[in-house]
Amino acid sequence: MDIPKEIFLKDYKLPDYYFDTVDLKFSLGEEKTIVSSKITVFPRVEGSSPPLVLDGHDLKLISVKVNSEELKDKDFHVDSRHLTISSPPTGTFSLEIVTEIYPQKNTSLEGLYKSSGNFCTQCEAEGFRKITFYQDRPDIMAKYSCWVEGDKSLYPVLLSNGNLIEQGDLEGGKHFALWEDPFKKPCYLFALVAGQLESRDDIFVTRSGRKVSLRIWTPAQDLPKTAHAMFALKAAMKWDEDVFGLEYDLDLFNIVAVPDFDMGAMENKSLNIFNSKLVLASPETASDADYAAILGVIGHEYFHNWTGNRVTCRDWFQLSLKEGLTVFRDQEFSSDMGSRTVKRIADVSRLRNYQFPQDAGPMAHPVRPHSYIKMDNFYTVTVYEKGAEVVRMYKTLMGSQGFRKGMNLYFKRHDGQAVTCEDFFAAMRDANDADFANFLQWYSQAGTPLVKVTSSYNAEARTFSLKFSQEVPPTPGQPVKEPMFIPVALGLLDSAGKDMPLFSVYHDGILKSITSNNQPVYSTVLRVTKKEEEFVFPNIIEQPVPSILRGYSAPIRFESDLSESDLFFLLAHDSDEFNRWEAGQILARKLMLSLVADFQQKKPLALNPKFVHGLRSILCDSSLDKEFIAKAITLPGEGEIMDMMEVADPDAVHAVRSFMRKQIAAELKAEFLTTVENNRSSEEYVFNHPNMARRALKNVALAYLASLEDEEITKLELHEYRTATNMTEQFAALAAIAHNPGKMRDEVLADFYNKWQHDFLVVNKWFALQAMSDIPGNVENVRNLFNHPAFDLRNPNNVYSLIGGFCGSPVNFHAKDGSGYQFLGEMVVQLDKINPRVASRRVSAFSRWRRYDETRQTLAKAQLEMIMSTNGLSENVFEIASKSLA
Ligand code: PHE
Ligand code: ZN
Repeated sequence: MDIPKEIFLKDYKLPDYYFDTVDLKFSLGEEKTIVSSKITVFPRVEGSSPPLVLDGHDLKLISVKVNSEELKDKDFHVDSRHLTISSPPTGTFSLEIVTEIYPQKNTSLEGLYKSSGNFCTQCEAEGFRKITFYQDRPDIMAKYSCWVEGDKSLYPVLLSNGNLIEQGDLEGGKHFALWEDPFKKPCYLFALVAGQLESRDDIFVTRSGRKVSLRIWTPAQDLPKTAHAMFALKAAMKWDEDVFGLEYDLDLFNIVAVPDFDMGAMENKSLNIFNSKLVLASPETASDADYAAILGVIGHEYFHNWTGNRVTCRDWFQLSLKEGLTVFRDQEFSSDMGSRTVKRIADVSRLRNYQFPQDAGPMAHPVRPHSYIKMDNFYTVTVYEKGAEVVRMYKTLMGSQGFRKGMNLYFKRHDGQAVTCEDFFAAMRDANDADFANFLQWYSQAGTPLVKVTSSYNAEARTFSLKFSQEVPPTPGQPVKEPMFIPVALGLLDSAGKDMPLFSVYHDGILKSITSNNQPVYSTVLRVTKKEEEFVFPNIIEQPVPSILRGYSAPIRFESDLSESDLFFLLAHDSDEFNRWEAGQILARKLMLSLVADFQQKKPLALNPKFVHGLRSILCDSSLDKEFIAKAITLPGEGEIMDMMEVADPDAVHAVRSFMRKQIAAELKAEFLTTVENNRSSEEYVFNHPNMARRALKNVALAYLASLEDEEITKLELHEYRTATNMTEQFAALAAIAHNPGKMRDEVLADFYNKWQHDFLVVNKWFALQAMSDIPGNVENVRNLFNHPAFDLRNPNNVYSLIGGFCGSPVNFHAKDGSGYQFLGEMVVQLDKINPRVASRRVSAFSRWRRYDETRQTLAKAQLEMIMSTNGLSENVFEIASKSLA
């Protein structure tokens, strides 16, 4: 293969031409679809007429016309990626192009394709070039119309962006619809859907009194499962008005659910397309986690209408401009709809378990990458989740009102434009007259900063000092790093566990007031900007216990000199609930790491009774939120612990975590049994925080008990499984039963499948549960499931459940005989021929092969090399595999 070309941010050039209007016409057919486009083109520099280069991929060109005249062969050139018009006329001209495409054969799920018999599109990042020749880049913003025609009985519903202008019948059993989108947009936001769908309809009245029609489209039989999605949509529309003053801008908002979709969902202007699993829910078939994910993602896509669509990205390097900001917005939305602390804990865990490892591996890249081979590979936890943390830091530094001012200025300056991360930064800065020092480093430096702090109390001087030092580790292409601007939120606890009043702090020897309206504060934000830096609090009358990095105010690794007893104290008293949870996690991580060392040295394992005591007091504290308790008694994940080791040892970490769970379950058995007993459902399923919290706590207790392998518990699990009236509890019981191998496990798994085989979303859960299992030698089961009639490698949800699930079980994926690596290697090669984007996302599981022992390194490397030597490898997989080997 030709070595694929790398694209660099520093090479960005303004386009030579802009497009004003784009009129599209689709004639949908069974063999082929004809796409005609008519574009008004004008040069960026008046009077210039350089060649016009359009992107195009897998297209059959039928004709090209300029100003209504068909171009002769010598006037244009087509290759496998481009159509070039050598000397366009000067000034504005019209360009008409006709192409032929074959959606029925398109398994890549980008461009126009078919899912369950319906046509749909996916254009982000660069899928529009699979529909027609175009300048496929986000800084080309134009006004679109779209005429769609097709067989009326096969495709009764015809949708595109904007407003429906006209529809009617045509000859030969066909019909048409004409759509017009009044807002300028980049082509990645174009969408078309055609097929047999029905809608749940509702209305939202905006705060200025406009009525917006809301429609959620699915196959008829799924309509009853769209109630929650509709609730989420209306809640999101209201929230964006209340919190950001942002109103929806059209009279119609459509959501379509499709079963074959690469990602979660897509924010196409007024025609969002969703993976069905993020729309369809009923209490019987979807879990609380699904309900919460639907709320978040419906919010996310809706919020893109302002942060993404009205203001979009200049180029794909700026992806986090829209994604980091919109993830931040959806996190805030979910927090306001449920528990802020619990949401924060979930988001930080996600960052630690997925983004930290990426930031420490060969694919580490800044929130705004400097280069890429395939943009598809950069829809990452770094761009999304770390990007959201960067946005959150602006808010931490400036407060809600300051942040809102910054957002207002951002929209005032940039509505209708394609802009950069600096533009966002400048709006935040200018609106607040703020000094952000070297904050922009967060966009350009990869790697997770490591911040250490040491504290000391001077009883005589009554001062309390915090000395910070920071280091940003080297990452590929960035051996040396500058210090970062790190907002550190903190408070100081007195001996009664109350926050001390704070008035001022010495920084660089200068005393600065930190009061608010002349009143003391109980929590403040320090700005740590240097490699080493000291802050001294005066008038501190007794030795405090500092609660540092409250609410996780920066995406860093953090080490302090807090003692074990300080941490237990924080766990019991901190007014910042996040830091209470965090104190417990720090204790657990320390404990797990020391047990891992014991295990490796073949010493007997013993659990610190103080830790168990700490867990017991949380579990039995009726003043605490139940979901908080559920999170606080959950041990850090295996990945998180491996990430902290010099050489990751999946067997040791797994053994230790299992040991701890079993030990905790044995010692707290009575408490766990009571917890299950007291938290059963008494009423119908409701999606609200108190009910979800109750179910979460019950399920965590049940999961602990499952590790006991005792007959009485098995009976209890079976009872819970049989009497459950919702998927949250039924599935948790199933998982508990499936924890231990044996006949019971097999029977109940079979029973569950029989019950739910008609529902592909539930079947995916069934696949995932088995794939993630820690049962020894599970790779064989997974291979069998791969041949299960319900499994289809072309469906991304199936792939994520089975293959993604399998890679999520460290013991089996990293099996020392290489069986897990070999399975993934085979899957990647097969998948790449079907859908490169889905395949390359799976390759990342190999990326950190250097973190393991030599045996595993050799085995994993061999698979990467095997992948690299495969004929016809996609650029997507090439990029991840080659960077992993580099
Ligand atoms: N832009 C989508 C989102 O985050 C994600 C996406 C990217 C979907 C690329 C499909 C393809 O909301
Ligand atoms: Zn998004």
